[in-house]
Amino acid sequence: MNVETSVGNEQFRVERPAHVPEEAVVEIDYHLFGGAADPRLKPGMAYQEAWKEIQDSDGPDMRWTPFNGGHWIPMKGDLINEVLQNPDRFSSKYIALPKEVGELYDFIPLTLDPPEQTPYRAILNPLLSHKVVRPKEAPVRALAADLIEGFMDKGECDYVRDFANILPVATFHELVGLPEEEREELRKLATSGDQTKPESVELMLEKIEGYLRPHLKRRREEPGTDLFSGLLHSNVGDRPITDDEAMHMCKQLFVAGFHTTASSMTYAMYQMSKEKALRDDIASDLPNVRFKVEELLRRFAMVSIPRTATRDTTLGGQEIKEGDPILLPLILHNMDESIYPDPMKIDFKRRGALQAGFGRGAHKCPGSVLGIVEISVALQEWLKRIPDFEIANKDDVVMAGGGVARIDRLPLRWDV
Ligand code: HEM
Repeated sequence: MNVETSVGNEQFRVERPAHVPEEAVVEIDYHLFGGAADPRLKPGMAYQEAWKEIQDSDGPDMRWTPFNGGHWIPMKGDLINEVLQNPDRFSSKYIALPKEVGELYDFIPLTLDPPEQTPYRAILNPLLSHKVVRPKEAPVRALAADLIEGFMDKGECDYVRDFANILPVATFHELVGLPEEEREELRKLATSGDQTKPESVELMLEKIEGYLRPHLKRRREEPGTDLFSGLLHSNVGDRPITDDEAMHMCKQLFVAGFHTTASSMTYAMYQMSKEKALRDDIASDLPNVRFKVEELLRRFAMVSIPRTATRDTTLGGQEIKEGDPILLPLILHNMDESIYPDPMKIDFKRRGALQAGFGRGAHKCPGSVLGIVEISVALQEWLKRIPDFEIANKDDVVMAGGGVARIDRLPLRWDV
């Protein structure tokens, strides 16, 4: 099957290098792909279906796009795994493309490869463990309930604006102990950078640092029991962490957990608003909803992660040159039918391979416990109060592509 040509930002388009076969070329600007600006997105389709069309189209397992500085896109789950499990061959030095944007990110641990990355993960893992997250569940639940009760009697809401964009920011506040009145400012800050413009990303990162600095200073002087205090008073190997390192880690935490969690819950709600059987199935056993969340995360994975070849190598039989960027849309792993039979189907009885929406290998998401708690609580509190709902107007749903693809607007309605 052939697929139509998409649109893309021409600024970082490059010529096809000699080692890229012509039949591998596919015109994909991942910042736009699967979003409203992409003509490939037919009515009723979401980002995940758009990728599935590419995966099922004729062409080699290793595709290459001229957008965003030119990069490879492996189509198969085993190739995505191979990249993620071999950081010595594929570095995470640039966590966004084009490289002009990627090099602005100085996040720790994401931009470091093992073994350099390892001691920072050793700091982070206990700070986001079950033990730390469990006591946060009750306040997150109370907030979710409050938000829903605020609009329940109206019979309508924009799920993204009124719920999904608020809960993860508020949860982060809970974890870090930031002032409540700063929530909205934080949400705006974390979502402000235009990922295709280096100057916009630079400004966003500067502003985040400016915001965080006094909060970190205060916790350095008067440590509390929150996440930032824990970070600031930890050791990297056998020496205390520096203020600079702590800032790089806090910036990473600040950005990592918002869009991903908001987007995951929104795709789940989008599908539930279209499928009554799915709503009923999830509502039928709310206490155990978290076991179903993994399958929802598999079906609606929406993070694409870049890696860069550290040396000349091969991948899927294709020659890769040192410095070649590779983009890994994790949904391509989760929709590979050789790993997940009938992959488009949401099947809560599915067993076997773990889904890859949280990544794989050394950088696998340390916030997964928290993310799953938030999504579970969001579904439980919603379905308890509003078991039946639908999309108010299909034309008003706004899809968006990007490193974290999302739905920007999801107007829902229900009977009151
Ligand atoms: C459903 C929600 C979430 C999804 C789908 C998600 C997805 C991911 C993915 C795919 C990665 C790997 C990136 C890579 O290898 O390049 C990652 C890393 C990371 N995530 Fe999450 N994430 C979620 C929630 C969170 C939350 C709530 C937090 C913390 C508050 C968080 C913190 C991080 C951090 C710090 C890393 C970097 C880890 C490292 O480099 O070692 N994430 N996440």
